[in-house]
Amino acid sequence: MSPRSERSPLLADRPRTSEDSTRRAEEEDAALHGVPVPLSPRRSAREVILFTWALLATAGVIVLAVVLQHRNSTSDTTPSPPPPPIAPGDPSAGGPYLSSKRPKRNLIFMVSDGMGPASLSLTRSFRQFTASLPADDVLTLDRHFWGTSRTRSTNSLVTDSAAGATAFSCGHKSYNGAISMLPGHKPCGTVLEAAKRKGFATGLVVTTDVTDATPACFAAHVDWRMQMDEIALQEVGVGPLGRSVDLILGGGRCHFLGNGTRGSCRADDVDVVRVAREKFGWGFKGDRAGFDELRMGKNVSLPMLGLFADADVPFEIDRRNMADVYPSLSEMAATALTALEKATRDSDKGFFLMIEGSRIDHAGHFNDPAAQVREVLEYDKTFKTVLDFLEKSDTEGVLVATSDHETGGLATAWQAPNELPVYNWHPSVLAKANASAEYCAFLLHQHIAAAPVESERSLIDWINAELVVARLGITDALEAELSALATNPAAANPIFSRMVSTRARIGWSTHGHSAVDVNIYSSGGKAAEKIRGNVENTDVGRFLSEYLDVDVDEITRELEDKFQGREVVELKSEGVAEVSGHPVEWLRDARI
Ligand SMILES: *[C@@H]1O[C@H](CO)[C@@H](O)[C@H](O)[C@H]1NC(C)=O
Ligand SMILES: *[C@@H]1O[C@H](CO)[C@@H](O)[C@H](O)[C@H]1NC(C)=O
Ligand SMILES: *[C@@H]1O[C@H](CO)[C@@H](O)[C@H](O)[C@H]1NC(C)=O
Ligand SMILES: [Zn+2]
Repeated sequence: MSPRSERSPLLADRPRTSEDSTRRAEEEDAALHGVPVPLSPRRSAREVILFTWALLATAGVIVLAVVLQHRNSTSDTTPSPPPPPIAPGDPSAGGPYLSSKRPKRNLIFMVSDGMGPASLSLTRSFRQFTASLPADDVLTLDRHFWGTSRTRSTNSLVTDSAAGATAFSCGHKSYNGAISMLPGHKPCGTVLEAAKRKGFATGLVVTTDVTDATPACFAAHVDWRMQMDEIALQEVGVGPLGRSVDLILGGGRCHFLGNGTRGSCRADDVDVVRVAREKFGWGFKGDRAGFDELRMGKNVSLPMLGLFADADVPFEIDRRNMADVYPSLSEMAATALTALEKATRDSDKGFFLMIEGSRIDHAGHFNDPAAQVREVLEYDKTFKTVLDFLEKSDTEGVLVATSDHETGGLATAWQAPNELPVYNWHPSVLAKANASAEYCAFLLHQHIAAAPVESERSLIDWINAELVVARLGITDALEAELSALATNPAAANPIFSRMVSTRARIGWSTHGHSAVDVNIYSSGGKAAEKIRGNVENTDVGRFLSEYLDVDVDEITRELEDKFQGREVVELKSEGVAEVSGHPVEWLRDARI
């Protein structure tokens, strides 16, 4: 074990940001060019394929995050108003239920990362089409519409997931990239930490890396979201507050393995799984077989760390064909609900669980509507799973679900250049696709790596037959599209996405986020009245700690003490430029 693992990561000798980013960029570069990644002989052929794919899959999203970050840190943004003050004596802050001793209660908070209102319309119509349902059939989410949330951050009208999740976890606005840090790099206590302190059980369930911005904001405090090596350590308990999380289920295993281990994406050699086990008593499950041992939550002893993918769990459209390798969001959520309920059976406190449909956002970044509708359907199913749980549970509880922001500027209409508008869009196109653009791009890279001397003609024919027709269900590909794929495979993901989108007449205005208000959904009840209507994302955050009657300010004061004298990580624009240089070009190339 390295000396570093013995120390608080907050006080570690050097910030790791740029090192991490450079290393990541090299891996992404290799993946984007189809260079095989060296792998452990212990892995099965299938895992090798999935692992390489996972690297490739993550590349685009991380790249986009870095690009956004770069813009935010280098351009002058309009000075923004300070975050709304939270007056301790504000009568609107407490509500009648603050005064008396609360009965036991559970709070489930769901985040649909990157899901805007258009995603609901898209998915509702898709479902009606594929399941032959009437025009008035709606999603479970639609029946629990509660209000809308305004999402801007302190330094931009367009938030990123980190500032978005900080608004939920701390109840304060912050700068893009902040992991439960406020402007001025001051830490803020989170609802999960305050809940744990008060005796609640706590859990995080996601489909991306568990070190990604949304889950990180509930259980870590770092200056920038890219500091994932630090985040992993803090999440298991190596941090200012010790261990706050009882159950973590998701992807991102690579951040928990030391750099000497195959499949690691850490810059250092800290074996976080070992630290978690030995110092904090975590149980660990690292694959689908391990997940099955949890027996849907009936065989879980806390704390339990379950990491079921090297990075992202595949998009649902692909995962359902690999269900023997990866659990779904709804399976992980059901497991967490059962485990946390069981763990709090004899407690007078309940639990706080955050569940994120993480990859709705990724489908938005990639502009892939076929992948997105299946992500939203799985999220809707998970929402129903939670509602059913609350219905059956003897303990009082509330479900609140919202998004941190919209991604992609999705529109359920698209006017082709030089054509008149068409008043329609076509779910049938999305229904025919049975793989994501991301997976098709992975298959293309794999094919090129296996047959590097193929002629362009033969490559084009293979792409058309095996990917475009067989996987995307597109039978009228243009020669220009196929040749763009053959000559610029690095841009395959956005090219495939565009082929699907234009045929379905689905529009996108960006590969990044947008500022549109997002929806809030809830199981309802009197307590949730406070976030009815059009509210600020911080109102949602404050609701969470008020509902549990926990004090995040007390945690903030403790963190401020413990963070005194620490090194603050500032983004160096050169360091970021180094990372974003290639990807920016890649994005430009993506527009055929
Ligand atoms: C692995 O981490 C150690 C420090 O923990 C570092 O000295 C070494 O250079 C790293 N190796 C690689 C290949 O990154
Ligand atoms: C229950 O969990 C334990 C510890 O993780 C494991 O050894 C055991 O095999 C599990 N039982 C079942 C029936 O899966
Ligand atoms: C995808 O669809 C094609 C035809 O549209 C079919 O040949 C192929 O087997 C399907 N693959 C899966 C995994 O369903
Ligand atoms: Zn987000």
